[in-house]
Amino acid sequence: TKVYNIAIDGPAGAGKSTIARAAASKLNFVYVDTGAMYRAMALHFLRKGISPQDEAAISEAVKTADVTLAYENGVQQVILNGENVSGLIRSEEVGAMASATSVHLPVREKLVELQKGLAARENVIMDGRDIGTCVLPDADLKIYLTASSRVRAERRYLELKEKGQDCSLEEIEKDIIKRDHQDMNREHSPLKQAEDAVLLDSSEMSAREVIERILMLFEERK
Ligand code: C5P
Repeated sequence: TKVYNIAIDGPAGAGKSTIARAAASKLNFVYVDTGAMYRAMALHFLRKGISPQDEAAISEAVKTADVTLAYENGVQQVILNGENVSGLIRSEEVGAMASATSVHLPVREKLVELQKGLAARENVIMDGRDIGTCVLPDADLKIYLTASSRVRAERRYLELKEKGQDCSLEEIEKDIIKRDHQDMNREHSPLKQAEDAVLLDSSEMSAREVIERILMLFEERK
């Protein structure tokens, strides 16, 4: 039987995970958050005290990182060498390390293989940076979801505040701009809109509108 794949790419904080999770639940698809996999790898490197520039050490450490996904009541959990690290990977420190280390080919190759395997077996909505361009080039629907850096920073800020983390909006926006720059200008699988992706700018759309738009587009294409 045919499996359906939906790819959602875009910069940090565009709302990809919120949107993809909600659309997956409407469609009864599995939601795969690939950023969480890069974050789990990054946590592994941080724990080993590896510098993000040390390509040799990173490529060795990749071999000892077993990253898998598990689902608890439909919610994705990320398992690093048997440990559920889903909570630990959500800090800005891990996010910055993920962006700095996702440039290395051994990191990407290992995670892309895992992602392709998941999408081949079941209906998935997968979000990330290179899903439409590289992981699922034949996806049934590709979305490029973006928003202005200020809007994205404001959303992250509220999210972190809700979790009780102390943070500054200016710092977050600076961080987001730096991360976008890194992600868009790296050599391997940089963040960019796939030619056949639909561009959605969520600066002036509510989450609900974006979700409805995606469900409609999928209905048209499937
Ligand atoms: O989306 P999230 O902020 O969790 O991603 C963390 C980092 O992982 C990104 O900044 C990016 O460098 C990297 N990433 C990637 N390819 C993906 C998903 C995330 O390079 N498909």
